[in-house]
Amino acid sequence: MKLVVVLPMLAVLLGLRFVKPRMIVWLAAWWAAIFVTLRFGFATPIPVSVVKLYMGIVTLALTAYILADRERMRQVREPLTAFLVEQRYQPALMAVAVLIPVLAAVQVWAGMTAEAQPPSFARTVHPAPPDSITVHGTDYPLGTQDNPYRSLEGTNPAEFEERLQDGRRVYYENCFYCHGDLMAGQGLYASGLNPIPTNFQDPGTIAMLREAFLFWRISKGAPGLPEEGGPWQSAMPAWEKFLSDEEMWNVILFLYDFTDSRPRAVEAHS
Ligand code: HEC
Repeated sequence: MKLVVVLPMLAVLLGLRFVKPRMIVWLAAWWAAIFVTLRFGFATPIPVSVVKLYMGIVTLALTAYILADRERMRQVREPLTAFLVEQRYQPALMAVAVLIPVLAAVQVWAGMTAEAQPPSFARTVHPAPPDSITVHGTDYPLGTQDNPYRSLEGTNPAEFEERLQDGRRVYYENCFYCHGDLMAGQGLYASGLNPIPTNFQDPGTIAMLREAFLFWRISKGAPGLPEEGGPWQSAMPAWEKFLSDEEMWNVILFLYDFTDSRPRAVEAHS
């Protein structure tokens, strides 16, 4: 209950006992006080349809109260009849006659022109990375950073293969629960997550990203996402807490190798 609303309403109803206003004012006051209490008096709002239902019952009850007594009926009927027939009320009567259809029209118009609201905040799947990050004491300038082991592909295929194997181990020890056996984002836990784990087979993901971007996302995870990476809580862990920098670079090599894709080149190189 919101006492700021309920107490004044109680005061109004109590006050009516002392003031003894005209029957019609008394009726209007009761009706309005109950409406205000129902509509605004509760911390958890009552649905409009339920308020309408209650007010229908209140209206019936008040009507029954009036109809039950000839004197009360007369007290309500007389001012109403006077309002309808007496010359001096004619301007007010005209105003009411115009106001009722106008209010109805406004209500309909407002209902029809209410626009569907888009979500106020669209999630950016690939938000802009920071200029540089620090992982285990090493600074990585993300704009120019390349995978330090990428060049081994040409210069030392044996070591490159070893690193791929280490990346495979890292992936199947840590990542496949979410990102899936086949890297299609269908791991065991995937269906319980929102946003869902990234599908690395989708050409819209790692194939259009640079390795430094992946290194940032893997090392810093969801906690490292900027504001526009919201609004949902991503479950992506910050792997710098569990993996060495080498392991993270290795798993990146493996992600591209397994999905048969190539990273986007660092701008300076292309
Ligand atoms: C607990 C589930 C979970 C695990 C485990 C997990 N991830 Fe994720 N990962 C996610 C989710 C969810 C997203 C998508 C939301 C986001 O971008 O943060 C994601 C996103 C990513 C992205 C960003 C891709 C893009 O297109 O921006 C990369 C890269 C990534 N994960 C790599 C990994 C690697 C590598 C591992 C293992 C070392 C791993 N993830 C383990 C849940 C997980």
